[in-house]
Amino acid sequence: MPGRVALVASCRTPFAKSGEVFKDLTALDLAKVAVRELIERSEVDPKLIGTLVMGQVVPSIKAPNLARETGLGALLPKGVPAYTINRACASSNQAIADVASAILLGHVEVGIAGGAESLSSVPILHSKGMTNALMAASKAKGVGAQIAAFTRVRPKDFIPETPAIAEPSTGLSMGQSAKDNGISRAEQDEIAFRSHHNAAKARDDGRLGREIAPVHVAPKYGATVITDGLIRADTSMEALAKLKPVFDRRFGSVTAGNASPLTDGAAAVLLMSEERAKSLGYTPLAYIKSWAVAAVDPAWQLLMGPALAIPMALDRAGLTLGDMDLIEMHEAFGAQVASNIQALESDAFAKERLGRTSRVGMVDRSRLNVCGSSIAIGHPFGATGARITGSLGHEMTRRNSKFGLISVCAQGGMGFAMVLER
Ligand SMILES: CC(C)(COP(=O)(O)OP(=O)(O)OC[C@H]1O[C@@H](n2cnc3c(N)ncnc32)[C@H](O)[C@@H]1OP(=O)(O)O)[C@@H](O)C(=O)NCCC(=O)NCCS
Repeated sequence: MPGRVALVASCRTPFAKSGEVFKDLTALDLAKVAVRELIERSEVDPKLIGTLVMGQVVPSIKAPNLARETGLGALLPKGVPAYTINRACASSNQAIADVASAILLGHVEVGIAGGAESLSSVPILHSKGMTNALMAASKAKGVGAQIAAFTRVRPKDFIPETPAIAEPSTGLSMGQSAKDNGISRAEQDEIAFRSHHNAAKARDDGRLGREIAPVHVAPKYGATVITDGLIRADTSMEALAKLKPVFDRRFGSVTAGNASPLTDGAAAVLLMSEERAKSLGYTPLAYIKSWAVAAVDPAWQLLMGPALAIPMALDRAGLTLGDMDLIEMHEAFGAQVASNIQALESDAFAKERLGRTSRVGMVDRSRLNVCGSSIAIGHPFGATGARITGSLGHEMTRRNSKFGLISVCAQGGMGFAMVLER
């Protein structure tokens, strides 16, 4: 076994609200920027890269294997195999776990993992009625038969189908399923408030900037984006309290302020075996100590996977929540973060759901999402895991921390957790 897996470097694009500055770019455009800049900044010899794995949740029908197209367009030798995976919002966490597994198996020594999402350019499909007519017309012989193929098309068939955030199994969207578990609106807003203020501080003192590659916006190249576009340094508890609920408009507490926004962006990390990183003279940001994936019944609670995955990853690392110097918990919604923390801190949850005698531990809020997280920075589904992992590695290095924890909730009731060490 080649020892530990080193997190050597990370790089991402700025994150922008979908439909705004990156609206004319695809996920592939953004992924190429992140991977190319990662290679340039880390000065890794591309010939050493043995694999590229990327996450994407809403793939393009033109380039469904985002990773391969990214590799071919981003300075990688043509012989580097690449594949794309989908574990919903934890897709690039899974990409990192896949590359780490390949390193631990000794299959590769160096790999890139990441992910990208453009919610500005999701595939919009014809309805089934229109698709049937188009298929029949393409097979019809003669103009008359082609025209006849369209006679059964009804007005409703002209309505296109867009990708749904709704769960296929329950029909509910994440926002509708973000049960508050008794979490007050004020607590949800407080999480959003801290996310924006921590992110604004990290942006202003350069901590976020060091991870970001500028994007020169094609096709006109009239703008260069160098900073995240969604952080609101001026948000206040009063302003957040005024926002109306969005999903359940009557009884809900999820608002545009305490939910992660629909976002475009890409992120990537460079991983190596410890041995190879040392022989090349790198000082890794951190090492991967353990990881775990878990799932709950989405009809019970869609966003509680982290409360199961976190204790699994901690047990595998032989560590406790109290050992974690920093905690990065992806913020799908303020309610989801608070609900998972509530579960980790609950003896009853530990007994009923985890088969443990007592709670997993207390979450020290001063160690949580210290550079902000997805509510403020944004959440391009496929890229978030790589953003969080890179960001935690940088912050652990800056603070000389020993251990850091990552958790991400994902569609289908899944949760991912990883422990980093230095
Ligand atoms: C919640 C959601 C529907 C809101 O979308 P939206 O309406 O486009 O949101 P906006 O950014 O336009 O915000 C709406 C309003 O709230 C205001 N607002 C948002 N955040 C705010 C903040 N922190 N402070 C003050 N005002 C805020 C905006 O300024 C805007 O005000 P306006 O209408 O006067 O311009 C959308 O972001 C969403 O679907 N998020 C969830 C995504 C999801 O499910 N992800 C999967 C989870 S893993």
